[in-house]
Amino acid sequence: MILEAVRAIQRANYILITAGAGIGVDSGLPDFRGVEGFWRAYPVAKKLGLRFEELANPRWFKENPKLAWAFYGHRLNLYRKTKPHLGFSQLLEIAKSKKDYFVFTSNVDGQFQKANFSPDKIEEVHGSIHYLQCTHPCKEEVWSAKDVEVKVDLEKFEALEPLPRCIFCNSLARPNILMFNDWEFVEKRRVYQEELFNDFLNRASLGKLVIIEIGAGTAVPTVRVTGERIAKLLNAKLIRINPKEAWGADISIPLGAKEAIEKIYRELGF
Ligand SMILES: NC(=O)c1ccc[n+]([C@@H]2O[C@H](COP(=O)([O-])OP(=O)(O)OC[C@H]3O[C@@H](n4cnc5c(N)ncnc54)[C@H](O)[C@@H]3O)[C@@H](O)[C@H]2O)c1
Ligand SMILES: [Zn+2]
Repeated sequence: MILEAVRAIQRANYILITAGAGIGVDSGLPDFRGVEGFWRAYPVAKKLGLRFEELANPRWFKENPKLAWAFYGHRLNLYRKTKPHLGFSQLLEIAKSKKDYFVFTSNVDGQFQKANFSPDKIEEVHGSIHYLQCTHPCKEEVWSAKDVEVKVDLEKFEALEPLPRCIFCNSLARPNILMFNDWEFVEKRRVYQEELFNDFLNRASLGKLVIIEIGAGTAVPTVRVTGERIAKLLNAKLIRINPKEAWGADISIPLGAKEAIEKIYRELGF
């Protein structure tokens, strides 16, 4: 199956990379596969009896801001200190050897930007933890979190004051991430990225596209469904890299991200 993937990549002149939480597992990041997976990553959530869908919910910013910011502050700090594994740079080299590439991801961790993928070639469909917005929101605006520090008492699972504030109205701020039951998500940045993605797809439709999907789960199937839809629409081959859920693609590679990318990279002759 590696050779089949390599042939599909060789035949293409445009590459679309689609990715879910699984791409980060080899960098040491948790995925949230199933409630057990989530509780392994967040034992406190297990104690509180909260599933991912319940904790990743804007209501906590109103009802319990310190809990809400404990969850997101911990993740912000974790993603900031994580170094993307070697597969990211190999993937970038493969992508750059083509006419053009694009990344579509539901990850909010900013790992593609950290691995030097061009920010103009990424759609973060669920937003990014590295950007903030107002909890109301008072304005349809987002701003960078780069100057924001969030300290978290992990024992109590409480963020410490001062919590991040809106730069316009001084209300509580929150990450610019699409949560569950979220009617306050500011779409501005995502909409801009979507326009870039559509421009890419228009160009790729005139050439030959290959899609490489990595670590996308089935619980929130946005990434899988988007890749499948585009594959059909643009007659592109879909390569699916996933150690546990690789089924359903043109080419299924049941391996971890780092190992699979490394094998493809070598076979391509880099
Ligand atoms: N890093 C992040 O930004 C992050 C992390 C967890 C969840 N989320 C959010 O939660 C939702 C979860 O959906 P999801 O599908 O991304 O995650 P998920 O946790 O539901 O699924 C992860 C997938 O990765 C696969 N996987 C596990 N180890 C892997 C490895 N070493 N290499 C490749 N694949 C591996 C699993 O088999 C699974 O199919 C999304 O909406 C996302 O926004 C984001
Ligand atoms: Zn505000």
